[in-house]
Amino acid sequence: MSERIVLTRPLPPSARAILEAAGEVVAPDGIEPLAPDAIRRLVPGATAIVAQLYDTIDGEVLDAAGEELRIVANVAAGYNNIDVAAAKARGVAVTNTPGVLTDATADLALALILTVTRRLGEGERLLRRGEPWSWDLEFMLGTGLRGRTLGVVGWGQIGRAVADRALAFGMRVVHASARPDAEPRGEGDPPGGAATSLDELIRTADVVSLHCPLTPETRHLINAERFAAMRSDAFLVNTSRGPIVDEEALLAALREGRIAGAALDVFEREPAVTPGLLELENVVAVPHLGSATRETREAMARLAAENVAAYLAGRTPPTPVWTPGDD
Ligand code: DGY
Repeated sequence: MSERIVLTRPLPPSARAILEAAGEVVAPDGIEPLAPDAIRRLVPGATAIVAQLYDTIDGEVLDAAGEELRIVANVAAGYNNIDVAAAKARGVAVTNTPGVLTDATADLALALILTVTRRLGEGERLLRRGEPWSWDLEFMLGTGLRGRTLGVVGWGQIGRAVADRALAFGMRVVHASARPDAEPRGEGDPPGGAATSLDELIRTADVVSLHCPLTPETRHLINAERFAAMRSDAFLVNTSRGPIVDEEALLAALREGRIAGAALDVFEREPAVTPGLLELENVVAVPHLGSATRETREAMARLAAENVAAYLAGRTPPTPVWTPGDD
């Protein structure tokens, strides 16, 4: 059978070569994210779809692809853009790309923690505006990390990698599941790290860093109530998915001084940023750069391609989310 592998956007040559060895590769010319109707027009007859972050792969896309479709491979660890239940209902496998982006994302989380606590964005903007300044005992003071508590929400690979880095900076680490009612589980605790409940973490951490997937349960997990419970000198860092934070509530909390600052790699209505946030000096914002190193993006694309090639050849894909027979 000839395989038709549809890419929603181009992939690096090394990933494309893996796919070309597995079947005919079809890709749009542009690099812009495709609108849902454009995706539906692209996929008919596909045996595999390689999707990227902003591509919504729902039941309509799966139906537009038709009965030959066997796998949707996401080039991302998060797969909230894919309706996995709809894929299961149609017997279509889903894969993602965990692991290969752990270090890059954890590095960025640490960079954001340092940037927001040490006011680096604010300092750089001051210099770029050409404002007069001079060294002074009281000038542009930030918050040191040694002895402070990092609260990691979501104790997966990335959360643990951020914890390892924070421990090297002399921080204490507490971690919690994103499920408010979850029993604290100390499994895999590094020395100096401890499991706690989400409520306790929110109440006590100096830096709250989000590392949980976006699901219906975690949408707006960090809302007005949780901002009210945070320490007024605490910082929020989000490198997971934007909608986990209620951005209007974040803006209000920052404006009212209910928290000390926020560092954001992801946004609720990405690529848009809630108006007002970028006017605040204590907000650090970067455009979803968590996995943005050359080697990481290439590794993600290759892993997605390897998932497709393995599955179409009748093997278990290296990083499945769901394959027929799982449940
Ligand atoms: C992921 O893989 O989920 C990241 O957000 C992509 O940068």
